[in-house]
Amino acid sequence: MKTALWRVDAENPAADIIGSAARIITEGDLVAFPTETVYGLGANGLDANAVQKIFLAKGRPADNPLILHIASSAELFQLVRTVPPQALSLMKHFWPGPLTLVLPSSGLVPAEVTAGLATVAVRMPQHPVALALIKKAGVPIAAPSANRSGYPSPTTAQHVWDDLAGRISAILDGGPTGVGLESTVLDLTGEIPMILRPGGVTYEELAQLLGEVKADPGLTDALTKPKAPGMKYTHYSPQAQVILVKGTAESLTRQIAELCKDYHQQGLKVGLLLTKETWRMLGPISAAYQKNLGSRRQLQEIARVIYSELRACDIAGVDIILTETYQEKGLGAALMNRLLKAAGHKVIRA
Ligand code: TXA
Ligand code: MG
Repeated sequence: MKTALWRVDAENPAADIIGSAARIITEGDLVAFPTETVYGLGANGLDANAVQKIFLAKGRPADNPLILHIASSAELFQLVRTVPPQALSLMKHFWPGPLTLVLPSSGLVPAEVTAGLATVAVRMPQHPVALALIKKAGVPIAAPSANRSGYPSPTTAQHVWDDLAGRISAILDGGPTGVGLESTVLDLTGEIPMILRPGGVTYEELAQLLGEVKADPGLTDALTKPKAPGMKYTHYSPQAQVILVKGTAESLTRQIAELCKDYHQQGLKVGLLLTKETWRMLGPISAAYQKNLGSRRQLQEIARVIYSELRACDIAGVDIILTETYQEKGLGAALMNRLLKAAGHKVIRA
């Protein structure tokens, strides 16, 4: 299959391009498009055949359900059985935006979307291209991240191209995405709202609005199965082995310098993804790939580039990626969740 690559203005997408992309969706094929979090791989969420093509293109396990993307709150009412008051206030505060709500399914969406679960995950993205595409297609768009399953999520059209060219009909290139990590998945079917995947909307923001929120114990306890089926898989992993180094500014810097030397002696190529603060202490060092991620006080910036930098390490052919840990507060919770998964939970304490 030949994959079309269409440039679109992120703020003001041209109607003819959105029209062509929407036609692909309504005809049952796949289009990748930018959202404010990461690029999504879209199909008509009401068409079981189209949705199956997503799983094929990505190599995604069939038991991992998809998020439905809508362009107006009204569309939610057909997709779910009930909209509790909490959902209404969450929608008012955070939609459009990086918050996905899990609610009881109305049964309208095919089992291919929900992986046979009684619930369905829905979000309204905050990106003019995504919203225009959904509106024009006139259907909810099922869209996982537009990467090959297991690989870091795409934050540019080039990442999507690298993973899926030849497997999908078109890619809408609206430039790099803003948040850089996926949406927060919040389950509203229990007594207390539960975060199934930390993401762009933080625990603190949710707690402020809802009062009580809990995090799925399966996110942190290796012995408990996570409630979001997707969270149990190895994920976000580049080819290179990721190692997280945790310590004080001094111990961390010393450990990284030592590890870097050791790996070099073993003939391994090292990539260093470090904060400005660590680079300042470390000084010049020889590594196959190095990147200053910016200040650790600016987690938004680090989140925005982290997937792209993991991919850059692979392109540079490194064997080992050394990177740092962050406090699991605010966006740090989502960042650490992804880094720990990318590292297969390998943390070296300095
Ligand atoms: O930011 C995002 O959410 C991006 C953009 C494209 O919107 N999408 C995304 O989709 O990250 P995906 O498929 O890569 O991740 C969806 C996550 C998975 O962990 C999946 O298991 C979970 O949401 N999920 C989907 N439906 C669910 C449901 N009914 N119950 C529990 N978890 C669900
Ligand atoms: Mg994904």
